[in-house]
Amino acid sequence: MPNNNASIVIPTYNERENIPELLERIHRSMGPLGYPFEIVIVDDNSPDETWKVASQQPDGDRVRIIRRQDERGLATAVLTGIQAAKYDIIVVMDADLQHPPEKIPELVSRVHNGADIAIGSRFAEHGALEGFSPSRQLLSKGADLLARTLFREIRSIKDPESGFFAFKKSVTAHANLSPVGYKILLEILVQGDYTTVSEVGYTFDKRENGVSKFGVKNAVHYLRHTWSLFLRSGEFHRFWKFVAVGGVGAILNLAVLYALTELGVFYLLAGVIGIEAGLLSNFFLNRSWTFRDRGTSGLRYTLTALYRDHAVRVVGVVINLLILWLLTSVFGVYYLTSQLIGIGVAMVWNYGGNQWWTWEPTS
Ligand code: GDD
Ligand code: MN
Repeated sequence: MPNNNASIVIPTYNERENIPELLERIHRSMGPLGYPFEIVIVDDNSPDETWKVASQQPDGDRVRIIRRQDERGLATAVLTGIQAAKYDIIVVMDADLQHPPEKIPELVSRVHNGADIAIGSRFAEHGALEGFSPSRQLLSKGADLLARTLFREIRSIKDPESGFFAFKKSVTAHANLSPVGYKILLEILVQGDYTTVSEVGYTFDKRENGVSKFGVKNAVHYLRHTWSLFLRSGEFHRFWKFVAVGGVGAILNLAVLYALTELGVFYLLAGVIGIEAGLLSNFFLNRSWTFRDRGTSGLRYTLTALYRDHAVRVVGVVINLLILWLLTSVFGVYYLTSQLIGIGVAMVWNYGGNQWWTWEPTS
């Protein structure tokens, strides 16, 4: 269990009007608890001199200011703050009071009591999102959907894009973090070392002073970030393993068909046996290689997965045939080209089925 203490990391860019109230409210909610804490402000040399305003506040001995001269960006500023933090529990929050400082003690106590990561959540019970315009909300939903599709580990989390959270320092100690843009929590959830995540609802308020720094550039950063995270997370690797296993299955399929037919078995029967041999080879290779990390063992589990895999692949065959027919007969595409496209689409389907269903634990 980590000691009760906290390093509160706050990235800032042109937030001078918010700093006095922010620091005042943090001191008011943390002070009475009696455990040590520090505030680490990481300012990117704000033109409005946020760094200077911060250094002039009362109770300044608890506040450290890191002024970055040659780098800009929310997520990397947070990383700088995490590296500088001296306590075991780290809290990350915005400076503009859209994240209520009164919720910090609860986040810290969740981590102190066993959670590896505690997330201030707009979508958990008692949470609310009031500070986003309808268009920003829509963008945020789209971003969330993309992340959920790419990263299985965040699917049970309600607000993986939150900018308000606390965690044990050990979560990021050995993680290879390299975020661009805004979504530092997403990076930590995909790359960090942790087992338990807890969510605390809070209301994301409107901004009273200053403006959001979120713009079109950040939306592009987000796409770049999720893609790089996908490559680094091992999920990209997994897809190619799946394809390689499929290649082995196809060769086995052909070999069995050939051998049995040459031995005098009726070729259609040999074909059925060949297909099943390929399916079984795919299944067992995927189990012990592609999806090894799912920790799937036991007879009952294996049988369930075997049934699911077959169900997925039967539908895959139907999709493949439908595309072959549609492209060839309706659109006049050369049939071998149609089939190549059909195989590609079916492969993605099969992969999706394996990724989201076949190797999921049974409930
Ligand atoms: N150092 C530094 N450098 N800080 C920055 C930069 C930067 O380039 N850009 C923004 N910040 C600081 C702001 O000064 C503020 O304290 C905080 O990061 C959040 O910036 P906003 O521009 O106010 O973000 P938002 O309100 O649109 O979105 C925030 O809240 C969402 C919900 O929790 C972000 O934290 C999002 O990541 C989060 O999803
Ligand atoms: Mn904000």
